[in-house]
Amino acid sequence: MSGIYSGKVALVTAAGAGIGMATAEGFARRGARVMLSDINAETGEATTERLRAEGHDVRFLRADATKEDDVVALVRGTVATFGGLNIAANIVGDAHRDASGADFHEQSLESWEHTQAVSLRSVFLSMKHEIAYMIEHGGGAICNVTSLAGLLYVGAAGAAYAASKAGVVRLTKFAAVSYADRGVRVNCIAPGVTPTEAYNKAGPEMGQMVIDHLLPNQPIRRVIATSEQADAIAWLCSDQAAMVTGHVLPVDGGWTAQ
Ligand SMILES: NC(=O)c1ccc[n+]([C@@H]2O[C@H](COP(=O)([O-])OP(=O)(O)OC[C@H]3O[C@@H](n4cnc5c(N)ncnc54)[C@H](O)[C@@H]3O)[C@@H](O)[C@H]2O)c1
Repeated sequence: MSGIYSGKVALVTAAGAGIGMATAEGFARRGARVMLSDINAETGEATTERLRAEGHDVRFLRADATKEDDVVALVRGTVATFGGLNIAANIVGDAHRDASGADFHEQSLESWEHTQAVSLRSVFLSMKHEIAYMIEHGGGAICNVTSLAGLLYVGAAGAAYAASKAGVVRLTKFAAVSYADRGVRVNCIAPGVTPTEAYNKAGPEMGQMVIDHLLPNQPIRRVIATSEQADAIAWLCSDQAAMVTGHVLPVDGGWTAQ
């Protein structure tokens, strides 16, 4: 698929780590000019510098994807820098607050609100401003990221995360149908066990414990590489998937097939 994105401009949120970083790399290596964004300027800039050193045309803009002013500035900044916007991967999300396994009735409102903001509001705001640009400028392709927890019961993920990720599925499908006749495709992936920084936030042992707890549910019993999630996003956003919209693609080693 090398070069399939030549001449395209891509925007990737959460590009400073994990699946977002791999997605930005995947787009750049397929020929796109890429705007990387993250709330963490240090990791976002380091990733961008690494890709620039490999010869890719990439830039970084810091943005908190839960804040509308930041998202507006990000979309405008992408267009001002590269002259357009064809592809967007909205990857920001956070299960951390709810990964403690606390029972539903013990979860705080503050934790609920945090999760809805990071995992659902961010996707709404990103799509809102990306689509507003795309429908006036020749269309585009968007990929969001839900989770297995948005599709079926995963107790360790917690209720707030599950609800937010189910929301991402409905937002994706709603937008896909709404904009199908205006040249914008919208899909999402649902990753299986893909170790990233998110797994280590509570400490490396906790990360391993989560992996050990989850992997027995995954028919292909190995962890999934971030690049394998990025490959799925790259295909969904490419012209090879021109008739695919409103789709949820599990990249989950068969978990949801059971
Ligand atoms: N890793 C998995 O196994 C897995 C499984 C299912 C779903 N997901 C989803 O995939 C996405 C990426 O997960 P990951 O594991 O790569 O996470 P990660 O924690 O490794 O990286 C997340 C990145 O998002 C950034 N970020 C956090 N809040 C932000 C905000 N408000 N604005 C902008 N950037 C922000 C962080 O700084 C970080 O760089 C998330 O939506 C997550 O819910 C991951």
